[in-house]
Amino acid sequence: MKTTIRPWKIEDAKELSSMLSNPKILDNLRDGLPYPYTVKDGEDYIRAMLAADPNDTFAFAIEVGSVCVGSIGVFRGQNIHSRTAELGYYLAEPYWGKGIMTEAVKATCARVFEVSDILRIYAEPFSRNLASCRVLEKAGFSFEGTMRANAVKNGITEDMRLYALLSPKLNRS
Ligand SMILES: CC(C)(COP(=O)(O)OP(=O)(O)OC[C@H]1O[C@@H](n2cnc3c(N)ncnc32)[C@H](O)[C@@H]1OP(=O)(O)O)[C@@H](O)C(=O)NCCC(=O)NCCS
Repeated sequence: MKTTIRPWKIEDAKELSSMLSNPKILDNLRDGLPYPYTVKDGEDYIRAMLAADPNDTFAFAIEVGSVCVGSIGVFRGQNIHSRTAELGYYLAEPYWGKGIMTEAVKATCARVFEVSDILRIYAEPFSRNLASCRVLEKAGFSFEGTMRANAVKNGITEDMRLYALLSPKLNRS
């Protein structure tokens, strides 16, 4: 089935709540998300995304067969990094391993480069997160290096990998 990205709808909060109440997802994200993640938490997130400046925050629901199955967002940096943006994403566990996130990453980055002046989109998965690293590689990101001991997650010191994709407008890879 086709993977699409679309703006958030408040009704997506139910799916967000069920997909994010999963330690296998939370263990690969930054800290700060509540567990369990309630429908109200999802509604708050969706309202914040809908209220955000659309030139700085590019947040989409991932849809497959008219079901919301994941979340993807590109967030503009500040100061000298104002034309650089960070990519983040997650997918409901039943949908893993079907190529969905690779499609969503490609579609999202193409959209951001088309509608904004962003020059560089980067992502920082944990080095152990081989599926996420592979998604980025398949979506055309370049591996730029390992950031050693860059985070502490669940009490464990983690290496992270830096991947980036440059705007086609820059005309260099
Ligand atoms: C990471 C995540 C987004 C991947 O989404 P997905 O739709 O399953 O990814 P895809 O199917 O497009 O691609 C996954 C690739 O990783 C590979 N892969 C999966 N698990 C792997 C593992 N343990 N070791 C090596 N490769 C692995 C798959 O084989 C596939 O590569 P292939 O097409 O060359 O075979 C999803 O697993 C997820 O949401 N995880 C939890 C949250 C998370 O990690 N978010 C990212 C934070 S940086």
